[in-house]
Amino acid sequence: MILGIVQEKGGVGKTTTTINLGAWFANLGHRVLLVDLDPQGNLARGLGVTGTPGAMYRVFRDPAYDILEAAQSTGYDRLDVVAADTSLEAAEIELVSVLSREHVLRRKLTAPSIMERYDHILLDCRPSVGVLTINAMVASDRLLVPVETQYFALESVHTLMSVVQTVRETLNPALTIAGIVPTKHEPRVRVCQVVLKGLEERYPSYLTRTIIRKYVAYPEAQLRGAPIHIAAPGSEADDAYRALALEILGEGQAGEPAPVKTPRRSRRDDAGVAQPGLPLE
Ligand SMILES: Nc1ncnc2c1ncn2[C@@H]1O[C@H](COP(=O)(O)OP(=O)(O)O)[C@@H](O)[C@H]1O
Ligand SMILES: [Mg+2]
Repeated sequence: MILGIVQEKGGVGKTTTTINLGAWFANLGHRVLLVDLDPQGNLARGLGVTGTPGAMYRVFRDPAYDILEAAQSTGYDRLDVVAADTSLEAAEIELVSVLSREHVLRRKLTAPSIMERYDHILLDCRPSVGVLTINAMVASDRLLVPVETQYFALESVHTLMSVVQTVRETLNPALTIAGIVPTKHEPRVRVCQVVLKGLEERYPSYLTRTIIRKYVAYPEAQLRGAPIHIAAPGSEADDAYRALALEILGEGQAGEPAPVKTPRRSRRDDAGVAQPGLPLE
């Protein structure tokens, strides 16, 4: 599966989700590649990896450059990363004049050598919808949308969903929504409660059962360059991403006690996979 982690807002937990969800996929036995599509380059750093300079830029601009050359081991089993840095900013501009510019990443990621090597590829997007993010949407089978339960959350999801609809109509009809996942949630804070309720009402079939609460353990883990299941194994913060991993993989459903600390009623009637035909809002 190629899973794009997208949101036009910054600071909502895209990179945190890419790292910890990817690390849990790997921990569950899957072979995982994490790809940074944000010139800020936080992804590899958050895993304690010093990225190869210009790796992601070359993926976009050098047709002969294999993504396997760009992939670096994180030191954690079954978990590799392709790093980005500020040089990727140039690709955003240069690609504008390239023929079939929206399909560059898809061509690279669907090469047989990559498909054989990895079970899942996670794409950590930048907080804007330019040609790099469109490349991620075209390359993805599914999208995961982290939403901080704060002011303007509904507006940001609405905007993103209309972009997704356009991409489906024009570039990638097979694109589905894996879920909208509430992040940095504070259950006792009024605004968080109101926003979560709004998301439940507006996107009942897309909202994940797992809610990622606000825990200082996440930034602390990133500071140490470690995924949460290494930095704080068995903590509530760790359990949350384990639950999300199982939910996205379609495991841990009926019959198993909910691994989340705040179990909620299931909103899905389809084993956790949002239906492609459902309206987007
Ligand atoms: N659930 C959370 N609880 C507390 N802090 C979080 C949580 N998710 C992310 N953060 C912190 O918020 C900041 C922004 O998160 P990040 O994942 O980099 O967002 P994005 O990639 O969407 O810009 C980082 O310092 C990160 O450690
Ligand atoms: Mg980020």
